[in-house]
Amino acid sequence: MDQRNCTGSITETMDSIYYHFREALEKRKEEGILRSLPKPTQGIDFYSNDYLGLARNAGLHDTLLQQIMKEPQLLFGSTGSRLISGNSSEITTAETCIAEEHQYPSALLFQSGYNANLALFSTLPNRHDTIIVDECIHRSVHDACNMSHAAKLKFRHNDVGHLESKLKKQKGHCYIAVESLYSMDGDLAPLYEIAELAERYSASLLVDEAHAFGVFGNGLVAQYGLQNKVLATVITYGKALGAHGAAILTNDLIKDYLINFASPFIYSTSPQNWQWRVIKNNYTYLKNQNLSSQLMENIRIFRQYGLSATSFENSPIQAVMIPDHFRLKKVQETLSENGFLTYAVYSPTVKSGTERLRICLHTFNTEEEITELARIIKYMI
Ligand SMILES: Cc1ncc(COP(=O)(O)O)c(C=O)c1O
Repeated sequence: MDQRNCTGSITETMDSIYYHFREALEKRKEEGILRSLPKPTQGIDFYSNDYLGLARNAGLHDTLLQQIMKEPQLLFGSTGSRLISGNSSEITTAETCIAEEHQYPSALLFQSGYNANLALFSTLPNRHDTIIVDECIHRSVHDACNMSHAAKLKFRHNDVGHLESKLKKQKGHCYIAVESLYSMDGDLAPLYEIAELAERYSASLLVDEAHAFGVFGNGLVAQYGLQNKVLATVITYGKALGAHGAAILTNDLIKDYLINFASPFIYSTSPQNWQWRVIKNNYTYLKNQNLSSQLMENIRIFRQYGLSATSFENSPIQAVMIPDHFRLKKVQETLSENGFLTYAVYSPTVKSGTERLRICLHTFNTEEEITELARIIKYMI
C-alpha cells in the first residue's frame, strides 16, 4: 500500500474540511455574531434563569448537605440507563410526587429540558403526522423534528389564525408545539385559544413550560386548568427551580410509549440520585414560600421605563429590541463595564432584524440595581 498517497489524500480532505469550518467561523466574526464561552464573571445578574434565586439559596444547599451526610448513597453514580441499572426509588417517588403536584396521571424525568423535548417531539409523531410549531419555539423542538419522520410546519408567532389555516390543510394527525412563556420574547402563548383549536381539529397539543414553571406557580397549563387538553407538558428544573433536569407530564400510555421508543431516554445514563433529591426539596420550598410577589414587584420597576413593549407585563424575561449588531454589542459591553450582566441575542438565535438585549429579572435584584440598569439602557438606545 502506498502510504504517501494515502496520507496525502487524508491531509487534503482534512484541509478542505478545516477550510470550511474556518470560513464559517470567519463569516460569523465579520458579522459580529461569533459565539465564544464567556469568562466566569462577577456582576449583577440580569441574565440568568434563576428567577427566584433558588440556585443561590444557602438554606436549600444546607438541607441537601445534611441529607447527603445522612444518606451518602445519594452521591453514588447511577451506573446506567434507567432501563438497565440506573433506576431507583428516588426517581420513581419523585415522578409520583411531580405527577400529583401538576395533576397529571404520570411524569417521566429527564436529565435536561433539551433531552425531554428531544424525546417527546422525536418519538410521538410518526411519518404520516405533521408537527406544527410556533416559529419562536425553542431549538430543541426543531432538533427533535429533524430526528422524527414527521413533516414540520411553522406558524407565525402566537398567530392563532395562521395556525388554523395550517391545521385546515392537513390530512394526517397533527401535533401543535408551543411554549407557554417564550424564552426570547417574554410573551405568553394564547393557550386557551390554541387548546380550543387543537380540540376542534383533533390535534394533540404539546406545551413547553420551561420559563413559566415556578414563576407562575406550577406553570400556565396548571393555572388555566388545561391538563386534560394538553397531551404533554414539559417542565424544566434548570430555571426557576434553580436545579437541573426536566419532566414530561402526560398520561400512563404516553409515558410507557416514551420509555419504550424514545432514544434520548433509553440510550443515556440516568443522573445521580442527589439531583432528583434537589428537585424534590426545591418543589417543597417553592410551595411554602411566596417568592413570586417580590419578582413581580421587580418586573414592575423595570417596566416603568418602557423599554420592552413586546414582552408580557409580568414576565421575568424582558426583551429590549436593538436590531443593530454593533449597537447591541456596545450597549451590552457598556452595561458589563458598569457591573451589569445581560445577554445580547443575535440572529440566528432570533430572526434577523429582531436582535435584542434579553433582561432577566430576579427576586434578588434591588430597586437601585434595576433603576441604574434601565437608566443606562435608556441613555444608549
Ligand atoms: C423554552 C425552552 N425549552 C427547553 C429548554 C432546554 O432546557 P434545559 O436547559 O433544561 O436543557 C430551554 C433552555 O434554554 C428553553 O428555554
